[in-house]
Amino acid sequence: MTVRIAPSVLNADLGRLGEQVTAAAEGGAAWIHVDVMDGHFVPNLSFGAPIIRALRRVTDLPLDVHLMVEHPERYIDEYADLGAANFTFHAEATVHVQRHLVRVRERGMKAGLALNPGTPPTVIEEVWHDLDLVLVMTVNPGFGGQSYLKSSAAKIRRIRSLLVERNHSAMIEVDGGITVDTIADAHHAGADTFVAGMAVFGSPDPAEAVRALTRACLGRA
Ligand code: DX5
Ligand code: ZN
Repeated sequence: MTVRIAPSVLNADLGRLGEQVTAAAEGGAAWIHVDVMDGHFVPNLSFGAPIIRALRRVTDLPLDVHLMVEHPERYIDEYADLGAANFTFHAEATVHVQRHLVRVRERGMKAGLALNPGTPPTVIEEVWHDLDLVLVMTVNPGFGGQSYLKSSAAKIRRIRSLLVERNHSAMIEVDGGITVDTIADAHHAGADTFVAGMAVFGSPDPAEAVRALTRACLGRA
């Protein structure tokens, strides 16, 4: 199974964004994860279009945009124009999930649906044919540096079996509290893509931090 590490720039040193992202890329990062927060859907504010634009200039890696905002559909066209690769929004943030997934794909981005820890995996059953990616939150979203929820593995397993039953190739990405100590648990449960914020940019050596996560994921010392 392919393993992708997607470092989140939420807690990167934004004054050295180019340098930090280049280091993560050297370590083998597959995507750069961008956490957009609106202070309503989650109790924190972060950033949006200006950071996506800046990242597009400093890296060729696909930008994996995670919207923790109400009315995420307002940003589909803008982020597509800025060159985002993946557009992932929360199932809890809109009543028109299916319509927006379709629009994301029409604009040439991969369509991702994120699920909070309290949201059952069954919500994907009605929209699985419109999905490229399921983002399983392994913390309650809003902040970096929180602890991985132990209940996550069972949920990831259920989502993996829903996809296997349908012979569906959607990616399963996990987000929150991913470290060298938790990544293998999520991988064994069926996740293939791993967001890591503090574990990468909280380290003085982001390149080595990405390598260490990859080794821990694949069970190599
Ligand atoms: C949390 C964000 C995460 C965050 C992860 O709400 O969605 O992507 O940056 O940070 P860590 O890996 O430090 O938990
Ligand atoms: Zn995220």
